[in-house]
Amino acid sequence: MAIGILLVGGFGTRLKPLTNQTPKPMLPIGGLPLTEHQLLAAKKAGINTVILATSYLSEVFTPYFGDGSKWGMKLLYAVEKEPLGTGGAIRNAAAMVGFADTSEDFVIFNGDVLSKHDIASQLSFHKECSADVTLHLIKVADARAFGCVPTDETGRVSDFLEKMDNPLTNDINAGCYIFNPTVISAIPEGKVVSIERETFPQLVKSGRPVFGYHEQSYWLDIGTPAALFKGSRDYVAGDFMAGSGTKVASGSLVTGGSSIGSGSEVGASCTITNSIIGDGVVIGDNCTVTGSFILHNSVISSNSEIIGKYISPTENLPISTQ
Ligand code: GDD
Ligand code: MG
Repeated sequence: MAIGILLVGGFGTRLKPLTNQTPKPMLPIGGLPLTEHQLLAAKKAGINTVILATSYLSEVFTPYFGDGSKWGMKLLYAVEKEPLGTGGAIRNAAAMVGFADTSEDFVIFNGDVLSKHDIASQLSFHKECSADVTLHLIKVADARAFGCVPTDETGRVSDFLEKMDNPLTNDINAGCYIFNPTVISAIPEGKVVSIERETFPQLVKSGRPVFGYHEQSYWLDIGTPAALFKGSRDYVAGDFMAGSGTKVASGSLVTGGSSIGSGSEVGASCTITNSIIGDGVVIGDNCTVTGSFILHNSVISSNSEIIGKYISPTENLPISTQ
């Protein structure tokens, strides 16, 4: 069965300050880290071994995910001392399972994407096409911030243009790729390599079979605070959701697609709107929390008004969720 690689080593610069203490893929969506949603999607497609390619704040992943047995999966960690770029990270991670000796395909996921596309169907398409690489493609209104990927009528990729001002098509790289293991050996070892700016354009130019799998399902890159809040609201799909053991005192209102993690407490007469609240958070009485992100284990004293803020146990900073 295919082996998964999650690219979870980026700095999450556009999400600062939310990523000051938390790597982007560990930010919660509906109370669970984005990475956990991706692992569950991989498992559903029959992928049981996943390598987490980590770098920035790598130490945050292991205590949460361990060896993966809690999810009935096998998880491995490939840690880059300095980020190797997306291509270097893939090569480094695949080496952990001896890519040169395996005939298994690799399924690679950008670690900041919420996608409901059918990974098993993408794998079947890859096999039907006898492709070296198959990329999930999605249509967006504005392709400028993404990898623009034109294809011919058979689905074969004719070019790969990372972030351009005048995109040739609205079909973009949705950040989930299937790689034949032979393609990974072509990525230089121990070097910083961009899969988007180097490997994909080179593969296409040298005539290798690179295919686009088009599926227009729910998809979101949570790379900015506004996108993260949208992803969380979409997931909640209602007034609010709360994890196990969380208590909300009577007379308090939690609304606007807010999510609260596990084991948190909200005091009396509070109003919480469009906010993301972590695990083990304590909010006193008579507080207003709007458009804010409250990190795990933070304490908010009674009578606080928190609007457009990022709060952690040690920080209190403004954010914009628009
Ligand atoms: N391990 C590791 N090492 N991971 C990395 C590194 C690295 O050096 N650099 C980036 N990543 C991870 C990030 O953590 C993220 O999960 C993923 O690779 C993609 O990086 P982003 O920084 O989020 O890229 P982007 O959103 O600007 O563009 C990418 O995603 C778009 C779709 O969301 C590209 O793949 C585009 O082509 C694509 O359209
Ligand atoms: Mg991204």
